[in-house]
Amino acid sequence: MPGLTAPSDYSQEPPRHPALKINAKEPFNAEPPRSALTASYVTPVDFFYKRNHGPIPIVDDLERYYVDICGLIENPKKLYMRDIWMLPKYSVTATLQCAGNRRTAMSNTRKVRGVGWDVSALGNAVWAGAKLADVLELFGIPKFTSTTQTGGKHVEFVSIDKCKEENGGPYKASIPLRQATNPEADVLLAYEMNGEPLNRDHGYPLRVVVPGVIGARSVKWLDSINIIAEECQGFFMQRDYKMFPPSVDWDNINWATRKPQMDFPVQSAICSLEDVQAIRPGKVKVSGYAVSGGGRGIERLDVSIDGGKTWIEATRFQKPGVPYVADDIDSDKWAWVLFEAIVDITNGTEIVAKAVDTAANVQPEKVEDIWNLRGILNTSWHRVQVRVGHSNM
Ligand code: MTE
Repeated sequence: MPGLTAPSDYSQEPPRHPALKINAKEPFNAEPPRSALTASYVTPVDFFYKRNHGPIPIVDDLERYYVDICGLIENPKKLYMRDIWMLPKYSVTATLQCAGNRRTAMSNTRKVRGVGWDVSALGNAVWAGAKLADVLELFGIPKFTSTTQTGGKHVEFVSIDKCKEENGGPYKASIPLRQATNPEADVLLAYEMNGEPLNRDHGYPLRVVVPGVIGARSVKWLDSINIIAEECQGFFMQRDYKMFPPSVDWDNINWATRKPQMDFPVQSAICSLEDVQAIRPGKVKVSGYAVSGGGRGIERLDVSIDGGKTWIEATRFQKPGVPYVADDIDSDKWAWVLFEAIVDITNGTEIVAKAVDTAANVQPEKVEDIWNLRGILNTSWHRVQVRVGHSNM
């Protein structure tokens, strides 16, 4: 690929912040400590989780780099960065969440396969770039198209990284054409993150950002965009990132029975406390994040200090000084909501958080009920145990 190369080994990886908790070294998979995650509404790039399936590609000549636009369209073309920069630039504040977020806790109840993650396999960034709907229009596909005249129904994004799951081939994924051509879905070809050019870990020079959808569909280091009739047949669409019931295990799985996971469900986690934390008795701040997929806002965040018997409502916020109102025009619909509650703790107990989104979807109580062999979408009530000490703490 002119201008962008994909190393076959890990000798040229970018520098990373030492505070990240490394869950897998090669490929590099890491998350920030939970206490740092919700220190700000917009997650600093250094502290944004990194989820990779191969060595990080390298740009050697941005001038020569282009994305091939091909498949079921009249005139396949090359899209250079200069073409993208000429399109209107949009900024979208969106939370990217890996479907494997909170996998370790699911694995603790019954073993699952996959990289272990605590509660920080997500981050909230201001992504900027061109809308995919505008890009596709340049190539003759009008806004709000579900099917092209040539039968195109999906948009496939192909990268150049070398992934072992693809037998050394690139990471790829697709979204429906109707979502790609809907300007309100805010799907971006992003070249900036938090006001800076993307860094290598996050997809430099160009990545897809599909707001409200599991992170797996936001393909980094874009190499080509294909208009296709059926959804992408790549590993990460067909043999991974699908939600199975607890009855399915590796000896009876039939991948073809399920659709690739797209929107993520309502989720929340407490970030101000670790599991089994020793605290002093008295007032304790319980804070964290809540987020839902599909652009749904967070209607409520409930906190319990007695393991879920009784609940109080936490305050929710996004921007300082602007009261958060779910689904309000001034709220960031694709972004997380931070929450905070002050509670009085006298004895050791279990503190729990659960969120309710604007469709009244509620997080499930028990992780066992949503256990699945790949350990995705652990959105069960988030629980932390606290011990109370009365001296020398
Ligand atoms: N794109 C490519 N090319 N290669 C990858 O390994 N990982 C996906 C997605 N896009 C991946 C990719 C997954 S599973 C997630 S959760 C997000 O990127 C993570 O994005 P981030 O590393 O910028 O946080």
